[in-house]
Amino acid sequence: MHEIKVRLPSGSYKIQIEAGSLGRCGDQIRAVSAAERVVVISDENVWSLYGSQLEAALVNAGFLVDSILIPPGEGSKTMECFARVCGNMADLHVQRDHLIIAFGGGVVGDLAGFAAAVYMRGLPYVQIPTTLLAQVDSSVGGKTAIDLPQGKNLVGAFHQPQIVITDPDLLKTLDKRHLAEGMAEIIKYGAISDEELFVKLEEYGSIEGALPHMEDIIFHCCDTKRVFVEQDERDGGERQKLNFGHSFGHAIEKMGLYRKHSHGEAVALGMVMAAKTGEALGLTPIGTGERLKRIIQAYQLPTKINVEYKELVHHMSMDKKNDHEGHKLILLKAMGKSMIYTVAEAELSTILEDILELAL
Ligand code: GLY
Repeated sequence: MHEIKVRLPSGSYKIQIEAGSLGRCGDQIRAVSAAERVVVISDENVWSLYGSQLEAALVNAGFLVDSILIPPGEGSKTMECFARVCGNMADLHVQRDHLIIAFGGGVVGDLAGFAAAVYMRGLPYVQIPTTLLAQVDSSVGGKTAIDLPQGKNLVGAFHQPQIVITDPDLLKTLDKRHLAEGMAEIIKYGAISDEELFVKLEEYGSIEGALPHMEDIIFHCCDTKRVFVEQDERDGGERQKLNFGHSFGHAIEKMGLYRKHSHGEAVALGMVMAAKTGEALGLTPIGTGERLKRIIQAYQLPTKINVEYKELVHHMSMDKKNDHEGHKLILLKAMGKSMIYTVAEAELSTILEDILELAL
């Protein structure tokens, strides 16, 4: 088993990564919780595949189990769905000594984590991520949120889990598109802080090539994220580098009404845009954007998009990193080295007009 300890002033916790751990997770959870009752928040797909296995593991460890299911997809990260989940928690008479378990991908983790953060002013919760994206990124670090019509993740809270239990075997039922979207976040770690990982991903050359190494890759990414989160839990500086490609990506997701591009696909497009923006500003070595584009194509992620630059900049204006000086972007100093850079809206518009004219 790989184990990582995240040490934070608000509370430390472990990330345990081991193939087959879903069947044993009751004991891992019992080790961090004395709760009698747990409420699992999951989506309908995950629950139909793995719900009975999780329930059995929890019952065997002495927990009484209830579940709340949401429809799969980003469309569930809304105020309405959040209100329904909180209402279901009230109907189940959830109290402060109950434990919440977020069992699913990024949407479930964000929404269930947010419900745990605010219901009765905060309940303990556990993350059991079931997608590659959630296993390498969203289950770690305590960011929880829902979307607003105005933008993604605009309402949320920092709320760290009691433990993150990751079973790479769950990836066996994940389709190519979901695996690819997790690869986008893995490529991101290489691009912002780890050229060695980036080179390995280039060598693996495809999702199939990377799959046999996945347990190690997940461990490596979570450990890299741990370093950023321990330095800057509340996202005021260094941690923002984890959002490489996301300012563009969140705008792209929103422009497609969260249906056209998955989060990972939008981030992949956003990373190429960010690299090319850095090149246009003279801050990123020429060729970095093309190198990113090649690896993104190899991992079956999109590199072409047809959007109007003015609309893109408009949607980027809701980014949480922005301040009165302009758009705060994460750019690359080199492959494996990132920086935070503020660019005025007018300058960003001119650069994006050129980039998008060349269809990336
Ligand atoms: N996904 C970026 C972060 O957790 O900060």
